[in-house]
Amino acid sequence: MKKFLIGSFSVLIFIMTSLFFTVMIIFQDPEFGGNPKKERKLLLNSSKNFKEDSFQNTVKKRNYDFWVNIREMMGDQIRRPPGPFPLIKPKFDKTVSKGLRAIWFGHASVLVEIDGYRVFFDPMLSEAAFPVNTIAPKRMNPPPMKLKELPKIDAVIISHDHFDHLDMKSVKHLDKLGAHFFVGLGVGAHLEKWKIKLSKITELDWGGKARFKGLTIHCTEARHYSGRKSMSNDSLWTSWVVKGPDHSVFHSGDTGFSPHFKKIGERFPGIDLSLIKVGDYGMDLGWQDIHMIPENSIRSHKHIGAKIMLPIHWGVFQLSYHPWNEPIERTVASAKKNNIKLITPKIGETIQIGKPIKNEFWWRSLKKPKTLPKDSGTKE
Ligand SMILES: [Fe+2]
Repeated sequence: MKKFLIGSFSVLIFIMTSLFFTVMIIFQDPEFGGNPKKERKLLLNSSKNFKEDSFQNTVKKRNYDFWVNIREMMGDQIRRPPGPFPLIKPKFDKTVSKGLRAIWFGHASVLVEIDGYRVFFDPMLSEAAFPVNTIAPKRMNPPPMKLKELPKIDAVIISHDHFDHLDMKSVKHLDKLGAHFFVGLGVGAHLEKWKIKLSKITELDWGGKARFKGLTIHCTEARHYSGRKSMSNDSLWTSWVVKGPDHSVFHSGDTGFSPHFKKIGERFPGIDLSLIKVGDYGMDLGWQDIHMIPENSIRSHKHIGAKIMLPIHWGVFQLSYHPWNEPIERTVASAKKNNIKLITPKIGETIQIGKPIKNEFWWRSLKKPKTLPKDSGTKE
């Protein structure tokens, strides 16, 4: 018996050690980014949102309910679209004309042309939203163009450091195109690890702002969490308001509903366009506190007070258990009930704000393709 116990204990130690070293080797992958050190750490400590070595939400989230999540995970929801989303390849002029245009690149990625400048929110053009292929969420629908086809971008704005929002390959390519990066406190550590020059990175706290060319870029609050290796919360999660001389736009980032939307709406009256997340929530209330349900996305748009809303964060990565089309259908229903002006563009479609927009419910007529394209993720 004693021999058996010693043997079992040795096997357990061997498994634990192997697992530890495997994880350590995986974490060496540069995609996991860097850790805030020295001056950056001092900057974090100076933030009133950084307490006990991590950033905190203004309104704390409720605890996860394990059994609610298990029940939802075991459900038979249809989590993948029946066929690929229609794609439109965007066309860009060499110089950016005045006005406000938006192109949804899928998920939370939106390219905005505002008052003569190109701003790319959360550019994520990679195939997978995690470096370990076997467990990575893969795209169900591709972006409308390849990285190498992108036009010159003035500013890249990152909401937080999760893989589906901060993509190393996209960042490195956009750096080559000459973009300047705006991120929340601490996120710069990842960019520095990827050899982005410090002079090209502006790190801001909630309430912070930066003048950039003809734009003012405001870092605003969100209710979420962060970390690429764990839920370390050592970098800040954010939303953003970009103001030009004639137009303004809001990007919600990943967030739960909280009074921060009202505060942003009061500080920035008359926002022209809100880009608000609607998908990847759970039935669990703890989950909803950091990934709001569509009815709260509409509520948050009302609090922001923007003129029109473009729903984001749905249909590309399957990161939760709800049916694939539930976020957009609940958003459309809630917008109708609340008399909210909504635009639901196809991936890659250019929306010109201020011009008549024909809204199509294009996702309702998706069909299974005769032959499934490779890497489309539409296979079960
Ligand atoms: Fe996130």
